[in-house]
Amino acid sequence: MIARNKSIFLTLLLLAGTGSAFAETPASLTSGYAAEAAKAAPGFAPSAQRGQSFISKQWGVSQKMGSCTTCHGTDLKADGKHVITDKRIAPLAPAANPERFTSLAKVEKWFKRNCTEVVGRECTAAEKADFIQFVTQGG
Ligand code: HEC
Repeated sequence: MIARNKSIFLTLLLLAGTGSAFAETPASLTSGYAAEAAKAAPGFAPSAQRGQSFISKQWGVSQKMGSCTTCHGTDLKADGKHVITDKRIAPLAPAANPERFTSLAKVEKWFKRNCTEVVGRECTAAEKADFIQFVTQGG
């Protein structure tokens, strides 16, 4: 058991040390957002169930862009389609698209843009943690 933990630790160290553009993983992003959320709500733990309600919720802010699934679809392992430009959007689920949730800069850019349009404000750290948890596990 000790040896196993040690090898996991070394793997993490190696991953952290690669310094590539793909330094983040869905799990590291989720725990980062969860840690931020826990500052406001001690004991916060990401919930795939809340993430699921969030992604399909009709926010009533934008007529055309009612929910996240409007463009990303309900099957997150399948392609989505931009509701305005009709452009194909690659699947959100890392299971189908390993590039997803590997860049904090990209994730932040799109959370900001899409949350503002769909939700009418920026998403909270808690919402981001739940979202990634669901998309990675349940999507
Ligand atoms: C108007 C269409 C549209 C809607 C609605 C939409 N998105 Fe997106 N989303 C996009 C596009 C376009 C991209 C970037 C293209 C790509 O990465 O394939 C993207 C990318 C993302 C990414 C980047 C993921 C990664 O690591 O590559 C996240 C996170 C995201 N969207 C979250 C959301 C959330 C949360 C909502 C709902 C609040 C939402 N989106 C609603 C069009 C949309």
